[in-house]
Amino acid sequence: MSNDLVLDINDLDVQYYTDAGIVYANNKVNLELKAGERLGLVGESGSGKSTLALAILGMIKPPGGIAGGEILLNGRDVTKLSEEETRQVRGREISMIPQGAMNSLNPVMRVKDQIIDSMIDHELGLSKAQMEEMAGDALEAVELNRNVGDMYPHELSGGMKQRACIAIAIAMKPKVIIADEPTSALDVVTQRQVMQTIRHIQSEMGAAVILIGHDMGLMAQFVDRLAVMYAGQMSEVAPKQEAFRSPMHPYTQMLIESLPKLATKGEFHGIPGITPLLRDLPPGCVFNPRCPQAFGPCTKITPKFLEHRPNQWVACHLYENESEKARA
Ligand SMILES: Nc1ncnc2c1ncn2[C@@H]1O[C@H](COP(=O)(O)OP(=O)(O)OP(=O)(O)O)[C@@H](O)[C@H]1O
Ligand SMILES: [Mg+2]
Repeated sequence: MSNDLVLDINDLDVQYYTDAGIVYANNKVNLELKAGERLGLVGESGSGKSTLALAILGMIKPPGGIAGGEILLNGRDVTKLSEEETRQVRGREISMIPQGAMNSLNPVMRVKDQIIDSMIDHELGLSKAQMEEMAGDALEAVELNRNVGDMYPHELSGGMKQRACIAIAIAMKPKVIIADEPTSALDVVTQRQVMQTIRHIQSEMGAAVILIGHDMGLMAQFVDRLAVMYAGQMSEVAPKQEAFRSPMHPYTQMLIESLPKLATKGEFHGIPGITPLLRDLPPGCVFNPRCPQAFGPCTKITPKFLEHRPNQWVACHLYENESEKARA
């Protein structure tokens, strides 16, 4: 492990225990994030993206639980922290703009008080006035006027609300920010503005960002590396260039091919076929029922997630012999 990693996730298993059975929402997930890096996390609805984000934040609640693996945040395994320790980490070291954040703002509370609320648990030793000052700074960082702090959510436009949510997330200047579909409820112009804001605070604060989403065009513009999830597992993690130009996993290949031509603009609509139920996964590779390149081992053996080309990690039997030969 190189020491500039802010996040190092190893063989993470997250499961939901439902009446219908165990949902294997994250299955042996591996992911690394370097300081200051921008990583995109894509995958069909239900592939486990938000689950991974919540696990990193220590926010998996019953009926869910972490069933195995480790999540090293600045070298410390957050799966082993107490409730109180997790609360201290959250907001200061790592923070999330949750999916649907705009709608989770408290309608009867002024914006600045919601920002201050996110700081209060942390015993920062600040006076009310100092916290108000920090809340104002956070609003300015997301390109809102300080006096927006005195407003209530219903007085804000969609884009302003989303910015307010970002202000809440970044008020304590965390070094890792997870943005779960931060622009999905916004029109295209506002989307672009909000992404510019995230980019701006990201570079200003030197934070690493995990951007979760479906919009491959947005990913192409924003991220350095792309992580592709399928059915609770990591299929491929690669630098953006390689992910778009020379994807290795058949699922990534189909995703990229399904994008409208002329570069990488467009929404992610997925590919033909049905995602397996996460409580009834096929044996072997989870993607084998939809994979046009499936062969012998694919229905029997789960492929390992390996670095088959430099910096390009793939879970696919197609390459296993290839890289064995290269190693030999
Ligand atoms: N609280 C819960 N209880 C039971 N199952 C859950 C719970 N939360 C998520 N799941 C299941 O876990 C799986 C992964 O869900 P998750 O929300 O992580 O997917 P996602 O990739 O974020 O999807 P989307 O793109 O729609 O946001 C799904 O099968 C989902 O139904
Ligand atoms: Mg989600």
